[in-house]
Amino acid sequence: MTDKPIPSPPPSPILSSRRAARVAPFLAMDVMSAAAAREARGEGVVHMEVGQPSAPAPRGVIAAAQAALATGALPYTQALGLPALRERIARHYAETYGVAVAPSRIVVTTGSSAGFVLAFLALFDAGARVAVPQPGYPAYRSLLHALDLVPAPLILRDADRFAPTGVALRDLHAREALACILVMSPANPSGTVIEPERLADLCATARGLGLRFISDEIYHGLAYGLPTETALRYDDDAIVINSFSKTWCMTGWRIGWMVVPDWLVRPVERLAQNLYISAPYLSQVAALAAFDAVEEVEAVRAGYAANRALLLDAFPGLGLGRTHPADGAFYLYADVSALTNDASAFCRRMLDEAGVAATPGLDFDAVDGGHHVRFSFAGSRSDCIDAVRRLKGWLR
Ligand SMILES: Cc1ncc(COP(=O)(O)O)c(C=O)c1O
Repeated sequence: MTDKPIPSPPPSPILSSRRAARVAPFLAMDVMSAAAAREARGEGVVHMEVGQPSAPAPRGVIAAAQAALATGALPYTQALGLPALRERIARHYAETYGVAVAPSRIVVTTGSSAGFVLAFLALFDAGARVAVPQPGYPAYRSLLHALDLVPAPLILRDADRFAPTGVALRDLHAREALACILVMSPANPSGTVIEPERLADLCATARGLGLRFISDEIYHGLAYGLPTETALRYDDDAIVINSFSKTWCMTGWRIGWMVVPDWLVRPVERLAQNLYISAPYLSQVAALAAFDAVEEVEAVRAGYAANRALLLDAFPGLGLGRTHPADGAFYLYADVSALTNDASAFCRRMLDEAGVAATPGLDFDAVDGGHHVRFSFAGSRSDCIDAVRRLKGWLR
């Protein structure tokens, strides 16, 4: 028998761009899929993996959407958004923060996610470095990579309550020549609220260094004691990004906004026209009613506050007592190093064996995330009670 030559494999096709290959998957979404598979097998899951309110959108929002839908006409709007909504958002700044913002500076977007793409595209050329908090929301990093920009991790320290500081910014800029700093308060996953004096210092430091300032304020309105101040109070040129997703329980409506300086309105408008034409009409009309739902929003916030207290009380007894500040948002970011050094494997087992879905820290921090897990308490009180009961049995 003669040996047949083994055919060499065909050259592997180029499947995606290098930019796309640099974008990491969202581990939280992967956990969500594994949890869905478990549920499809008829096994229960307590969902603490995704930052998603379990409460519905405010009643007025739903009624406004129903009325708009009944007319049958759902047109495009101007790329910058419905004038009435831009005016209503501007009024929100006057009423909530006492800060005057002209409606012409408001851009309505398809969730805050689109706001980041618009800001990055409008502000920077390829190669610009943007300081992003670490641990921090993973999409900042991924979007910057996808746009040929460079995320520069601004490491948050326990000694600073995991808040960025002017000193840390100055040090990073000396090493990495930044173009911008992006901050969030309250933060995901740490929950840290940047206190007003520190925010003022950060804005002044960035301005002194000639850096752009982007402030993600999506969790404003969800804090448990500390005040949440807009960066616009300290820097009229700050680019503020916000959304109806979290505070108003409207994740799937895909509606958010940005506040930009006058000189950035037209560049952002041109990009928005071409990227998505306009945010969904139905969601824009509905969002107009959101700011009036003060009592409903406060009731939801009070529910989160109770969930937070319940978990903060129970976690130490489970070996999960070392958590980041949780001043706001709806997460407990827990150090699990007493239990494991592999948070991803830990989360897989926690889902398989206890039916509790949570997100491994590597989503938020490529360095220290291996021994952290993020638990969302945006679900119901009974979810939190059930999670503690399951974890008690599992971690015994
Ligand atoms: C800090 C932060 N910013 C932005 C977003 C994106 O939200 P959306 O696009 O729904 O407004 C999230 C979602 O989890 C977040 O946690």
